[in-house]
Amino acid sequence: MGDHRWCPQSVRAIVTDYLQFGVKKWKMDAAMVSLLRQALEHTGVNQVIDLCSGSGGPWLDMLRGLESKGFPVKVCLTDKYPNAQAFTYARDVFGGRFDFCSEPIEAAHVPEGLVGFRTIFSAFHHFRSADARAILQDAVNCQQGIAIFEITQRTPWAMFNFFLTSLLLPFCVPFFRPFRWSRLVWTYLVPVAPAVILFDSIVSCLRTYSAGELRELAMGTGAKGYIWKAGEIKAPAAPVPITYLLGYPGRD
Ligand SMILES: C[S@@+](CC[C@H](N)C(=O)[O-])C[C@H]1O[C@@H](n2cnc3c(N)ncnc32)[C@H](O)[C@@H]1O
Repeated sequence: MGDHRWCPQSVRAIVTDYLQFGVKKWKMDAAMVSLLRQALEHTGVNQVIDLCSGSGGPWLDMLRGLESKGFPVKVCLTDKYPNAQAFTYARDVFGGRFDFCSEPIEAAHVPEGLVGFRTIFSAFHHFRSADARAILQDAVNCQQGIAIFEITQRTPWAMFNFFLTSLLLPFCVPFFRPFRWSRLVWTYLVPVAPAVILFDSIVSCLRTYSAGELRELAMGTGAKGYIWKAGEIKAPAAPVPITYLLGYPGRD
């Protein structure tokens, strides 16, 4: 629901702020850092193009994580509906390590000038299989690496957990930073945000690809010389594992 054109930008921002808050609380960024670092090291790339960035997703913490592991990267945040406020905040806090595109960027049609290892966090389930494959195909056609991470899963356990956590929104909203009045309005005065988050959480779980399905989509690209890895990793504090797909050109 948060992805629809009719959804006000300020409501969409609460959905992605909440996602960012949850990933941080469940310390999922650390688990993703170690996988991503291997892929980035293999390709020798330290420029990242983050697609479907929302409010920046886990990148604000992952950037520090990669730096502390001796692998500093520069990240360009992009989205079909760019959240200029959140992107500007990331750039102001992190200086030159974050950049962003203020123009809409379609995940399956990344402009030629945006070169770097592509990442997509908690968004791949939004795409039906033809569109999902097109996203992978675009990365392959441009010979860029791509990493997909999904924190939702198509299991009753995941749905149960995301149902419960979505009910916690009213208790978390005052702690989102930077502070914005619009969050309080859409949560307490006109409680649209809790309804959207509840709906989105359940639908996201139902749509999430399994590791096997991600692998099949990757094989469908017919990429020659690409290394694909799909699987699940568990962040110790999170009740649900993270499903991932990594793909990058192998070394000659
Ligand atoms: C669930 S949010 C994920 C946000 C962020 N990656 C995170 O981890 O918090 C999904 C994002 O995908 C964006 N999006 C939806 N369709 C898109 C498309 N075709 N191309 C690029 N971005 C898209 C939405 O605007 C939204 O910000």
